[in-house]
Amino acid sequence: MSFSYQDQPILQDVSLTIQQGHKYLLAGPSGAGKSTLLKLMAGYLTGYQGQLVFHGQDYRAIGQAALMDRILYLTQTPQVISGTVADNLALTAHYSAAEMIQVLRRAALITTDAEGPAFLKQNVGAKGTALSGGQLQRLALARGLLRGYHILLLDEGTSAVDGPTAVQIEQDLLLDPRLTLLMISHTPHAATAPLFDHVIQFPLTKTAGTPASV
Ligand SMILES: Nc1ncnc2c1ncn2[C@@H]1O[C@H](COP(=O)(O)OP(=O)(O)O)[C@@H](O)[C@H]1O
Ligand SMILES: [Mg+2]
Repeated sequence: MSFSYQDQPILQDVSLTIQQGHKYLLAGPSGAGKSTLLKLMAGYLTGYQGQLVFHGQDYRAIGQAALMDRILYLTQTPQVISGTVADNLALTAHYSAAEMIQVLRRAALITTDAEGPAFLKQNVGAKGTALSGGQLQRLALARGLLRGYHILLLDEGTSAVDGPTAVQIEQDLLLDPRLTLLMISHTPHAATAPLFDHVIQFPLTKTAGTPASV
């Protein structure tokens, strides 16, 4: 697969396979194409050359909406709606308080079930201003976990979360054998680094005639 923005090539003849249940760290300098790769994998970006395949099916045949139902892409600046934490978790669906409290704990927004009911009722404010940047990132993660996503693409999705909390969340995700996880992090934590199965080092390089593979 190759991808260019206008006529600026970003990814050239990249070939890689992501295995279900494995954990990948995307490392390398800013501007190297890490976010671009995740956006392509998530189905957000189209217009690539070559082929992207999900469980044997071509991305173009699956379609963007169906891909987004299967693959969660979490950015540094998640979307929020005005209303409560519960509104932001449920959106247009319905979940029990117990289900919501469970994911709030996994995302380290609360530490005990007892904190749950009050936190669910908390207003997030206009554009989420009543919560910190790190809390908004964790809320987006909780929303995804609640929907049972098993493929998570985290684009510095814990960048605004304080160090110890980020480590706690990352460890929880990395130790979950059901999850396929690709994570971009500028600041990989020493405590979580050994839990990754693979490091995809950017810029992706290739030798003449062969695709860059990982
Ligand atoms: N929407 C866009 N239009 C044009 N160029 C872009 C766009 N998004 C990113 N780029 C450029 O593509 C390159 C790779 O960006 P990105 O994938 O965000 O890198 P990384 O995530 O590794 O920092 C950078 O040079 C960036 O400026
Ligand atoms: Mg990026």
